[in-house]
Amino acid sequence: MSQQSADAAQPEAGLENLLHETRTFPPSPEFAAQANATAEMYDVAAADKEAFWADQARELLTWSKDFTEVLDFSGAPVARWFADGKLNAAYNAVDRHVEAGHGDRVAIHFEGEPGDTRTLTYADLKEQVSRAANALTELGVRTGDRVAVYLPMIPEAVITMLACARIGAPHSVVFGGFSAEALHSRIIDADAKVVVTADGGYRRGKPSSLKPAVDDALDKGTDVRHVLVVERTGQDVAWREGRDVRWADALESASPEHTPVEVEAEHPLYILYTSGTTGRPKGIMHTTGGYLTQCAFTHRHVFDLKPETDVYWCTADVGWVTGHSYVTYGPLVNGATQVLYEGTPDTPDKDRWWDIVEKYKVSILYTAPTGIRTCMKWGAEYPGRHDLSSLRVLGSVGEPINPEAWIWYRDTIGGGKTPVVDTWWQTETGAIMISPLPGVTAAKPGSAQTPLPGISVDVLNEAGESVPDGSGGYLVLTEPWPSMLRGIWGDPQRFYDTYWSRFEGKYFAGDGAKKDEEGDIWLLGRVDDVMNISGHRLSTTEIESALVSHPVVAEAAVVGAKDATTGQAVVAFVILRSDVVEAGEDTGEASKIIADLRNHVASEIGPIAKPRSILVVAELPKTRSGKIMRRLLKDIAEGREAGDVTTLADSSVMDQISKGMKGSS
Ligand code: WT7
Repeated sequence: MSQQSADAAQPEAGLENLLHETRTFPPSPEFAAQANATAEMYDVAAADKEAFWADQARELLTWSKDFTEVLDFSGAPVARWFADGKLNAAYNAVDRHVEAGHGDRVAIHFEGEPGDTRTLTYADLKEQVSRAANALTELGVRTGDRVAVYLPMIPEAVITMLACARIGAPHSVVFGGFSAEALHSRIIDADAKVVVTADGGYRRGKPSSLKPAVDDALDKGTDVRHVLVVERTGQDVAWREGRDVRWADALESASPEHTPVEVEAEHPLYILYTSGTTGRPKGIMHTTGGYLTQCAFTHRHVFDLKPETDVYWCTADVGWVTGHSYVTYGPLVNGATQVLYEGTPDTPDKDRWWDIVEKYKVSILYTAPTGIRTCMKWGAEYPGRHDLSSLRVLGSVGEPINPEAWIWYRDTIGGGKTPVVDTWWQTETGAIMISPLPGVTAAKPGSAQTPLPGISVDVLNEAGESVPDGSGGYLVLTEPWPSMLRGIWGDPQRFYDTYWSRFEGKYFAGDGAKKDEEGDIWLLGRVDDVMNISGHRLSTTEIESALVSHPVVAEAAVVGAKDATTGQAVVAFVILRSDVVEAGEDTGEASKIIADLRNHVASEIGPIAKPRSILVVAELPKTRSGKIMRRLLKDIAEGREAGDVTTLADSSVMDQISKGMKGSS
């Protein structure tokens, strides 16, 4: 890779290029001839959406009781799909493949970061999931109870999720990178009865710990009765007799037979917390039948999955929605063989991903632009050390992919021939919504392009009118879809206010978008106070709350500033309490305070939320009504002159801040 293309990977360049990008990549005739997706699917779905989704639901899932009703939106904005049907998610993901004679097919090739490996066939998975379901039942978990899951990327994470699904107990997976504080608030909000965790996992060549955070979280007070602990690293952990139970013991003494609990299609499958525009994370609620239908449909068609021959690998952690829909549910419901990797892409060296692709002959790879840009930065020599010819489809998710990264992905990783699918969706949408279809769509680097068959989107202006081709506005989803969120756990009003109040009757996604001259959709990033750091969602308000909860901080404002690798980076502006400022002038402790604040954010939320930089300022730019003008701070954080300052109560504030910024760098 040349230096020039690394520079071109700057998102600033990317965003400008984005809309000028004119290259298209039509599917090769060979790929098109064997593709699962067809152009006709769009017409079939357009002719009768409900019939289309009903066909998918019946074709891709096994129902213990067939449904007669497809969509009921009479309780809008809460939709009910296939409501009188019954099924079990774990049965669909595991048992039925064994019953169909595929018990020997590999479900999971696990690759631990230290290099240890485990292979689980569908038959193995069935036994493990059944034992885990019995173990959870033994610990008092009943259908409807919530189970918190705080695990590294090891097979037990998938096994636990499926064991919960098997007994109809919604799981609430909390990303292992979140702090004890964040875990505690999520346990409380969902009122979880059991936590499944591990002593730790391997990251960057060393064991990291998880169990101490669970202990801290539970010490703050919860209704958790038991903690099931997987032994992964063998580190010493504190043990609470009567509460803590070893995973290995519990599974060993449990029966390998378990009858999946038949649940209604609308039975909650899981809660997953995501950041919104206020400080409090939202528990996004997904149910069973519609969710699995769209996960399976999209996984099969967007990635062109051939379950008998493909080896699929999604690099996402199960702590995020991508891990739910495209590690646990989509691939397993489709009977795929997948790779599960525990660690970081540069351990022991920067070619680890490519080593894994070669070793397992991965044919479908799904990752995030931040990972692609990081690999670009490291250079083509690392993928160049490996035979990547097994790859035949590449996917991208989490943030807009700049055309340079798209082209690099296709050329350097995909040998210049693989389709690249840029998939737009959200925790709330549950599954992919906008994406090219490999074998059908002529791909445009940088654009997610087309709503999938059965999905309706639009781009609206401020007034709620559909914009013409060639214009931009707000992305909305205009009709219900099977995997849509069914609400925010415990807060129906917030569900309505957040998504359904901006444009009456339409789902407001929070993203800006543009339709190009051909009507293809280009995503332009969030239009609200949500940031996207390495494809992970964080709220400015949440980090501001964490900062002001520190005793030295009087006020804080956080913005997401463009970052060449992570897409956005957290930049904080803080006003210190006056007594602290006076004391600090004597001792010159500013850098220590900044380090303390960064650690404080890590302990309140998690290391991913640590600001890249914190600037101590005397004042924040505010309007006369007292609203902080983050737009101006963003200008400063991104190295521009601040924009229009005329609405500021005190326009000299911005001069002081930009002087401070120059002084600090
Ligand atoms: C936000 C959702 C979807 C799983 C991972 C993130 C951004 C996601 C794309 C894409 C442009 C994208 C949006 C969206 N986003 N995919 N292909 N192109 N932007 O899930 O944490 O719920 O975040 O990620 O801004 O709203 P999430």
